[in-house]
Amino acid sequence: MTPPSTSPATASERFRHRHLLGIEGLKADEITYLLDRAESYVAQNRQAGTRLSLLRGRTLMNLFFESSTRTRMSFELAGKRLGADVINMSVEGSSIKKGETLMDTAMTLNAMRPDVLVVRHSDSGAVALLAQKVSCSVINGGDGAHEHPTQALLDALTIRRRKGRIEGLVVTICGDISHSRVARSNIQLLNIMGAQVRVVAPPTLLPPMVERLGVEVYNDMRRGLAGCDIVMMLRLQSERMNGSYVPSLSEYFHFYGLDRAKLAVASPDALVMHPGPMNRGVEIDTDLADDIDRSAIAEQVEVGVAIRMACLEALMAHLPSIAPQESRP
Ligand code: CP
Repeated sequence: MTPPSTSPATASERFRHRHLLGIEGLKADEITYLLDRAESYVAQNRQAGTRLSLLRGRTLMNLFFESSTRTRMSFELAGKRLGADVINMSVEGSSIKKGETLMDTAMTLNAMRPDVLVVRHSDSGAVALLAQKVSCSVINGGDGAHEHPTQALLDALTIRRRKGRIEGLVVTICGDISHSRVARSNIQLLNIMGAQVRVVAPPTLLPPMVERLGVEVYNDMRRGLAGCDIVMMLRLQSERMNGSYVPSLSEYFHFYGLDRAKLAVASPDALVMHPGPMNRGVEIDTDLADDIDRSAIAEQVEVGVAIRMACLEALMAHLPSIAPQESRP
C-alpha cells in the first residue's frame, strides 16, 4: 500500500531532529507538521489491511523500564503498520536483572544496529543521556516526571480534531502535577501552540514555582475549571511518591475528582481527557469517563498510534536511505 506521502527531503526539512526527547526544543511548525502527518494516518488506520512499506528494512526496538500499555503497544503497532521490524525487550527477562546498567544495555542493543529505540525509564534525563551514546534515533517514551512527548502530541491532535484549533483555548490540567511528565510535556506544547494553560491541584501536588512553566495556578477546582474548553485529568502517580501527599483517596475525590457537578462550571461543550491509566473514583467519576459525548479518552488512544507513526516517519527521514536491493531482496 502506498503511504500518504511527503518526500524524505521535505520531511527532514520540516522536522529537524534526529531524536524526539521532549517537547522542549520543538517549534510550532514542527508540531503542526507532526499533527498533520498523524491526521492522514488516522484515516489510513481506519481502513482494513493497512500496512505500509515506508519503514520496510528498518528495525524499531521498544525498551521499557517502566510498565506501559498504551505507549508500548501503540509504538509496536505504529512500527508494524509502517512496515518496520519491531522488537520488544522485556526488562524482566533481560540481563538488566543480572545487574547490567542502562547504558551497557543501550550500547548492546545499539550494536545490533536498530534504526530507532523507544525508551521509557523512571529517571528524568535517562533517555537523553542514552541518546548521546547510541548511533540510532531515540524516542522518549516517558522519563521520570520530566517529559512524555508523544503523549502531549496525541493530546494536541485529539484537541485539534474535536475543537478545530489549539490556539486560544483554555486548557485546565488537574491532579498530580508534581509527578507528571504528561503535565510537563502538555504545558510546553500548549504554550507553544498558543493555548492558555491552567493547573489545579492541592499545594502538596504542585511543583515549586510551577507558575514559571507558563500556567495559571489554582487550588480550588471549580475556580480552575470555570469556563475552560478542555479538562485534562491526571492520576496520582504513587510510583513516584515518597510518603503521603493526600489525606485520603475519598477526600481527594471530593475536592479534586472530576464529576458532573464540578464539570458544570466549565464551558458547556468542554472536552474531558485523561492520558490513562485511569483510577476511577479517585481522579475521575466512572460515569463521566465513559460518557462518549464528553470524554475523548478512547480517541486519545486511537490517535496515539497515528502520532507515533508520524514521529517514526519524521525521524526516519534523517537516517541514511536503504539501498533498494537491501530492502527488497
Ligand atoms: N499514557 C500512558 O503513557 O499510558 P501507558 O503508561 O499505558 O503507556
